[in-house]
Amino acid sequence: MIRQGQKTLNNITKFRSFSQLPQYNFNVQSKKEDLSLLEKMDPRKNKDLATKLRILQYIKPYIIPFYHQDKEINKTILKSYGYMFLSKSFFYAGPISLKYAINYLASASLISQAPMFILGYGLCYSAYVFFEGQRNKILANISQNALREISQQTYEHLLKLDPSFHFGESQRQTIFDITKAQKAIESNLKSVSSFFIPFISDVVLSSVFLLYHCGPFVFLSFLMTYGGYIWFTFDLTNSRRKGMGLQKKYERLADFTLSETLSNYYNVKYYSAEKFEINRYTSILENYKNQTIENQRTLAQLNSGQRFVFSIGLTSNMIYGAYKVQKGLMTAGDIVLMQSLMMQVLQPLFFLGVQWREWTNSALDIQRLFKIMDTKPKIQDSPNAVDFVYKGGEIEFSNIKFGYSNDKVIIDNMNVTFGKGKWISLVGESGLGKTTMFNLIFRLYDPQQGSVLIDGQDIKNLKMESFRSKICVVSQNPYLFNDTVMSNLLYGSKNKKQEDVIEVCKKLNLHDLFMSLPQGYQTLVGEQGNKFSGGEKQRISIARCLLNDAQIILLDEPTSSLDSINEDRVMKAIEQLRKDKTIIMITHRLHLNSYTNEVIYLTKDGYKEQGKHSHLIQEKNTRYSKFWDNFVVLDHSDTNSVKVDQSENSLNEKPQKKQNGQKEEEEEKME
Ligand SMILES: Nc1ncnc2c1ncn2[C@@H]1O[C@H](COP(=O)(O)OP(=O)(O)OP(=O)(O)O)[C@@H](O)[C@H]1O
Ligand SMILES: [Mg+2]
Repeated sequence: MIRQGQKTLNNITKFRSFSQLPQYNFNVQSKKEDLSLLEKMDPRKNKDLATKLRILQYIKPYIIPFYHQDKEINKTILKSYGYMFLSKSFFYAGPISLKYAINYLASASLISQAPMFILGYGLCYSAYVFFEGQRNKILANISQNALREISQQTYEHLLKLDPSFHFGESQRQTIFDITKAQKAIESNLKSVSSFFIPFISDVVLSSVFLLYHCGPFVFLSFLMTYGGYIWFTFDLTNSRRKGMGLQKKYERLADFTLSETLSNYYNVKYYSAEKFEINRYTSILENYKNQTIENQRTLAQLNSGQRFVFSIGLTSNMIYGAYKVQKGLMTAGDIVLMQSLMMQVLQPLFFLGVQWREWTNSALDIQRLFKIMDTKPKIQDSPNAVDFVYKGGEIEFSNIKFGYSNDKVIIDNMNVTFGKGKWISLVGESGLGKTTMFNLIFRLYDPQQGSVLIDGQDIKNLKMESFRSKICVVSQNPYLFNDTVMSNLLYGSKNKKQEDVIEVCKKLNLHDLFMSLPQGYQTLVGEQGNKFSGGEKQRISIARCLLNDAQIILLDEPTSSLDSINEDRVMKAIEQLRKDKTIIMITHRLHLNSYTNEVIYLTKDGYKEQGKHSHLIQEKNTRYSKFWDNFVVLDHSDTNSVKVDQSENSLNEKPQKKQNGQKEEEEEKME
């Protein structure tokens, strides 16, 4: 379902303007086609009963006392049952009191006692309402605890899952599904504790009272009425399930489309696709509306059927009671008791269909959550994992073979060492696997063969937290949290002082920018940092990394959105702040390699060159020098006109403007 939606969106981006978009005629799209689209987008299988049983397992600790680890919650559950016992006692004492009141009213000698029982009836009802209210307060407390705990468990689980899970699914859709499922579990818990448990106790208690006070015929007729009612409700509710599922799917599709379109707001505008998107959304809403109307119709059918079954049972019992009164075998009070008992359980019975439908619907929502919770993270600490011991930050790829899937190898038999305490450029053509190498160092994936070693320790044998905390990554696409500038800068390094932050920001040419904003460092960066330009976001994420105390820094094209002046500032800032850290910097802007200690140049055929930038370009038969020559000729930005100071020295080699003559000379050589 999700991929299909994304495919459609991707298709949109291929067209320059709305007039070039494929003209989908939504109005003639049949419901059948819609359905199959939805089925594809929603692979959830209908495993209703198993899901319902599993939901019960899930909510068991919040229903049965002494099942939860938290003693306080157990006490609260127990208290809720105490209140239920009290409320039910008064609930049944009321009609019995009324029975005596009626009987005494009918007897001339006892009529004076009748008001006392009428008063008793009133008091019982008030006490019932009071204890029921107390119980509801407690149940709200339990369900909120359950929701918090379930949400926390899901969140922890999601964070543990591998990138393959997060990139394989639509994250927005996952969020929708999880939120719905959590709400559904909470509502199931409420319906079990506030409806099903009291309902079952009502059926049992009413049966006992009816048997005792009105005899076996009334008791059997009562059971048959309830049996018939329940059978009818379940049967019709189950046949409505498909329609309900369809309504839910249209709802999901509408939510998903709305969120997808709004988050791609700029693309919709750039491609003048408003009309296209409105048509698409309207078509889904139309289907949703039709399905909802159809479901309302079947609901009305269900409700009238239920009332019909009940009225048959009630009427036959009343006729039987009247006959018995005529014969002197029952009192008028017994008939009133019988009617009250049946009516008392009538009300919850009317909700049975609604509650069962809720369960059926939520089972559909919760299946998705269970599927996520069943997904096991592939990358986990091994049982014998030990703590990482930092010895300078040397990183070694030993005989690595890796592919995201088994049918496509990205890295084959790679042997590379990144020396400790060095600043190393990692260079190679696009799609070679450079970012993938960072993923392997951070152990987001495990190689199919070989090992990644940090300071001689195979990371597969280390506790992930222990070595990951020593690494900081500036990713190719900088991501900022929708929070203040300061919170973003201090993300992961809370112990840093304001002066440290300002020092780094000054070095990266950010301080004046932040100070020019009305709220300075407390300015909100906006959704995904969209209040800042691409280059500013990039510098903020570099600042965040430099403020982190990590000993190993992985920079993935950290200056790809920067102009040459800011690029130079960033390089200088890294140089000054890096101390003895190991830095690996992926870059396509080869002139930056004059800042680094070493270049590792890789090619797709597994070839490798390693050495100082100035050496590699001086030796004319190296492949890197050809790569460099191409870069100088092909890159027409101002960064192309650079000359590298080829002195042997150090990091202080700085790119300088290339003289026109020299550039031409080099271009001639290339020809
Ligand atoms: N999550 C993923 N699942 C499947 N394939 C992937 C994934 N990430 C990357 N790839 C593929 O792996 C190959 C290497 O990707 P990678 O991002 O490591 O390249 P790169 O060298 O960093 O390229 P660039 O210089 O363009 O950033 C590419 O062919 C890419 O399509
Ligand atoms: Mg990359």
